[in-house]
Formats: sequence, structure tokens, C-alpha cells
Amino acid sequence: MHKEPVEIYHDLTARDFDRSHDEDQYYSKIYEPLARENLRRSLPTTPCNILDAGGGSGRWSLWLAEIGHKVVLTDISSAMLEVAQEKIRATGSAIKVLRCDICEMPGLADNQFDLSMAQGDPISYCKDASRALAELVRVTRPGGCVVVSVDSRIKAIKAMAAMEWQRAKEILTTGDMFSTNPQNMPFRLHAFTVTELGELFARNNLQVTRIVGIPAFFHLLPLKAQQQIFNNADDLENYLEIERQFADEPGWAGAANHIQVVGVKNHT
Ligand SMILES: C[S@@+](CC[C@H](N)C(=O)[O-])C[C@H]1O[C@@H](n2cnc3c(N)ncnc32)[C@H](O)[C@@H]1O
Repeated sequence: MHKEPVEIYHDLTARDFDRSHDEDQYYSKIYEPLARENLRRSLPTTPCNILDAGGGSGRWSLWLAEIGHKVVLTDISSAMLEVAQEKIRATGSAIKVLRCDICEMPGLADNQFDLSMAQGDPISYCKDASRALAELVRVTRPGGCVVVSVDSRIKAIKAMAAMEWQRAKEILTTGDMFSTNPQNMPFRLHAFTVTELGELFARNNLQVTRIVGIPAFFHLLPLKAQQQIFNNADDLENYLEIERQFADEPGWAGAANHIQVVGVKNHT
């Protein structure tokens, strides 16, 4: 069976995914709590049907099931899904697991979910982001929510920092680039602008209700201030409070590393 580099990469790193994320202070203290709070804003108060597409090791699915929702978890990487299955069995939760590419989800019926999400960049990693979003919209009921978080085009800053001016221009123009990772297994990704995301959502019958950088400000702080926030509980809480109050401005989102977009599927 042919495997894309993105699938090979996630198969190889699946067993380390949870540990590396839990031990990463940026992820565990800043990114994940903010992403969770943002997601919570879009969740209905009563139990609902949720698709966690590109859900990997099930970090989001397990939380959603724990707070009472009925969840279907999909991913392209069977190794990621194996890790998720082990956690699902250990917790006894009723999450349904399905291996598929977000661009093609024939196992899922039209209009079946109240909320469909792809957190942590799966849409950036897909071969065709437009097709992936169209699939998420297809399986979501009219009036339901689609929530995605993607890589932002500010990633071009790394090429600029390396004085790779031509590559920076290409990334800024097209959004297409390769991920760099410690495993030295590059895979193609698409980095979005806020404008592009707004247009993509509109073309796919979605009314955008929120565009937010996650986090909006942290990467702009000097390293010393970032360390202080990691190490001091009061500073961490004050920082997160600023994010909660002020991140909700699309202008900030464009300069953030990750952009989360929430859209509601139109009734027509
Ligand atoms: C960074 S991980 C995020 C996992 C999970 N959503 C989270 O936030 O913890 C990205 C996930 O997207 C999956 N993925 C990448 N391309 C995909 C595709 N075309 N269809 C489905 N899943 C995909 C990867 O296998 C991986 O599990």
C-alpha cells in the first residue's frame, strides 16, 4: 500500500506523540489550554455528535467523550489510531475509530455531525485543503459547526531568519512548504493566511464566526518572558487571561503560528 510521507511520519512518531506533547511546556501550558477553551466556546451545552478528524492519538476525542459527547475519531495514520484505541479501551469510552483521509470519508454519512473538527494542523497536511474542508462540511448538519486549526503563513519567518530570501518569498506567495522535524522526515504542508481561510470557508458554505491565533501573543514575547510565564503560576494565569480577553481579533491571528477558525454551516 502506498503511503504519503505525512502518514509515514505520523506512523513513526505515534508512540511518542503524547509524551512529547505533555512534556512540551509551550504545548501543555499555553497551546492546549487555549485551544480547549476556544473549542469549548463552540460546543453545544447538551451532548452532541462530534467528528474528530485527523484526531491522532485521541487527545481531543477522549476529553470530548469524557464531558459527555458522542465522538467519531478518524486519522490517516494507523499507528496513531492504535495509540488512541489503547487509551479508549483503558478508559472504557465509546469512541468510534475509523482510518481514513479527511479528503475522502466515504464511511461517514452526510449531515451526521453537530460539530466536525480537525485540530492540530491536519488540514494543512492534506493534499487538498479545499477538498478536506468540503468533506468536513458534507458530514456536518446545517447549523452545525466546523472547527479547524491550521499552520499560519507566518512560518515564512523561519526562512527569513535563515536568510533564505527566495524560499521566504515562495512560502509567502504560495503557502506551500515542507515541515522540518527532528526525525528529518520532511512532508509537505500548506500554511494559510487569514484572508485565504475566510475565502475557503465562504466557498464551502460556512459562515465564519471566529478566527483566532492560538496563541496570539506568546511567540512575540522575548524568551526570558516566555520562561517566566512557564515558571510562575500567577504570570501564566495573567498571560492566559490576556489571551482569553484580547486574542479574538483576526488581525492578531495572521501573525500567530496557528490559526483556529470556527464556521457554521449555512442552511441553504
Ligand atoms: C499534529 S497531529 C494532531 C493530532 C490531533 N488532532 C491533536 O490535536 O492532538 C496531526 C494529525 O493529522 C493526521 N493527518 C495528517 N494528514 C491527514 C489526512 N489527510 N487525513 C487524516 N488525518 C491526517 C496525522 O496522522 C496526525 O495524527
